[in-house]
Amino acid sequence: MMDIQKIMVIGAGQMGSGIAQVCAAAGFDVFLHDLKEEFVNRGMSSIDKQLQKQVEKDRITLQEKDAILERITPSVDLTHAGSVDIVIEAAVEKMDVKASLFHELDKLAQEHAILATNTSSLPITEIAAATKRPEKVIGMHFMNPVPVMKLVEIIRGLATSDEVYEAIHDLTKKLAKVPVEVNDFPGFVSNRILMPMINEAIYTVYEGVATPEAVDEVMKLGMNHPMGPLTLADFIGLDTCLYIMETLHEGFGDDKYRPCPLLRKYVKAGWLGRKTGKGFYSY
Ligand code: NAI
Repeated sequence: MMDIQKIMVIGAGQMGSGIAQVCAAAGFDVFLHDLKEEFVNRGMSSIDKQLQKQVEKDRITLQEKDAILERITPSVDLTHAGSVDIVIEAAVEKMDVKASLFHELDKLAQEHAILATNTSSLPITEIAAATKRPEKVIGMHFMNPVPVMKLVEIIRGLATSDEVYEAIHDLTKKLAKVPVEVNDFPGFVSNRILMPMINEAIYTVYEGVATPEAVDEVMKLGMNHPMGPLTLADFIGLDTCLYIMETLHEGFGDDKYRPCPLLRKYVKAGWLGRKTGKGFYSY
């Protein structure tokens, strides 16, 4: 079994900061990397806030919070990849960005290192093809918010080795999460089912059938969903939702996955949901 001690997380946004937090909480040393210092600092301060809430709820002590933060080293230097056992990439959901990152990481990382991606929907096999170690590339799809949600969808690329799969399965358990194995098809399982529902909810608003509040109320009270689809879309990020729908549309070629024009319009306007203060709701 591969021994994982040191982890690098790429992208200090909503997901990357959550992933770095749970890795550090499980005792791993973590680099949290982003393009600019201000982005890494934003990620570090959101981890601080999240941990502070846990201290206030008596789930962890102040000393434990400090110890977790101390295990996370901020980074704007990709060469740190050369000193870790696994990189977990959580940068933006765009194939060109991920492919060029993996190409670079492949050159920098140690021979034994695993290159994992938190992609929501992009083909693992295609990301792996940007490297010379496709057997060590795997999907490790956390859910948002990472410290709260139990699931990690583990996606095998075409060439992913059993040894790497086992190592990720084991790591997921050490992070106190539940691994579920799926194969590499657009959207995997989670977003193949979730995103068309969100897109349909947006069409429902677009076609004037109901307001966002009404759509969410129907799904919450009628279907027992803890959160309505439009609240969830704002939470995920409307840009991420659009990229995932485009991946499904392109990957399956079926019109049922066509992104709603209203979703495109909001993203063009910079209304990306909670992270920009405006989406279907204002924050
Ligand atoms: P975000 O927009 O909050 O953060 C992305 C971060 O990546 C930004 O800080 C950005 O500066 C950084 N970044 C972009 N290009 C980079 C590069 N070349 N090198 C280093 N850093 C770079 O996005 P979020 O929501 O954290 O999503 C990240 C990934 O996680 C995406 O692939 C997304 O599909 C996936 N994901 C998102 C979920 C969600 O609910 N938002 C759930 C599960 C997966």
